[in-house]
Amino acid sequence: MAENKKVIVKVKRQAAPTDRPHWEEFELTWRPHMNVIICLRDIAERPITRDGQKTTPVTFDSNCLEEVCGSCAMVINGKARMACSALVDNLEQPIRVEPLTKFPLVRDLVVDRSVLFENLMRVKAWVPVDGTYDLGSGPRVYPQEQEANYPLSNCISCTCCMEVCPQFNVLTGFVGAATIAQVKLFNNHPTGKVFKEDRLRALSGDGGIQECGYAQNCVKACPKQIPLTNAISDVSRDVMVQKVKDWLKS
Ligand code: SF4
Ligand code: SF4
Ligand code: FES
Repeated sequence: MAENKKVIVKVKRQAAPTDRPHWEEFELTWRPHMNVIICLRDIAERPITRDGQKTTPVTFDSNCLEEVCGSCAMVINGKARMACSALVDNLEQPIRVEPLTKFPLVRDLVVDRSVLFENLMRVKAWVPVDGTYDLGSGPRVYPQEQEANYPLSNCISCTCCMEVCPQFNVLTGFVGAATIAQVKLFNNHPTGKVFKEDRLRALSGDGGIQECGYAQNCVKACPKQIPLTNAISDVSRDVMVQKVKDWLKS
């Protein structure tokens, strides 16, 4: 009977950044539409390993459960993806669950992804509309422009694109595809354009767009199908143009 079906989940555990990681295996009761977050919650309710040892609940991040908040990214069966949309029925068992590997580990499946937010600050990935007075209505954005920009605005900051990128590492300091896509989005915005030159200059130095090797791992890993390779090639061209302009002015 379906209700007696079991789900075997192996979780990589690490209580603190300096501890040695180890694996724990759990046997859970299958239910329809189960995803990896449900598995982790079941473990939290009954933290006993498959061989009967008592353990602690697994620490993990999640929030929206509908692939919107970007918090539940982890490595599942060797692939960086969102745990809330990883359905048990589509996964080979035992399901192996590990933390992202390119970010400092906090505990179990939780990593510190603040580098993405530092990178977004570095490129001023926002539209400057703050003020203490009424700024009036914004400039018109035509439907064709809205349609072109909308896919870029779907980024959920999950960092899967950075996890799979061979160039995103401490040696290069590469900002990664998500930040580059946001540069395109905000440079396309009629008000956001005011920082266009600053953004392009921020991507022209060390860790900037020239670090990208165009391997396109990022676009395959992105859960929101963001056109990352198009964004990288468009921004790369704009960075080059900006460099020439700056050189002519100097
Ligand atoms: S194209 Fe390759 S090198 Fe460039 S950001 Fe994507 S995964 Fe990284
Ligand atoms: S670009 Fe895609 S993979 Fe990268 S952070 Fe945004 S949603 Fe995640
Ligand atoms: S819980 Fe929000 S994206 Fe998975």
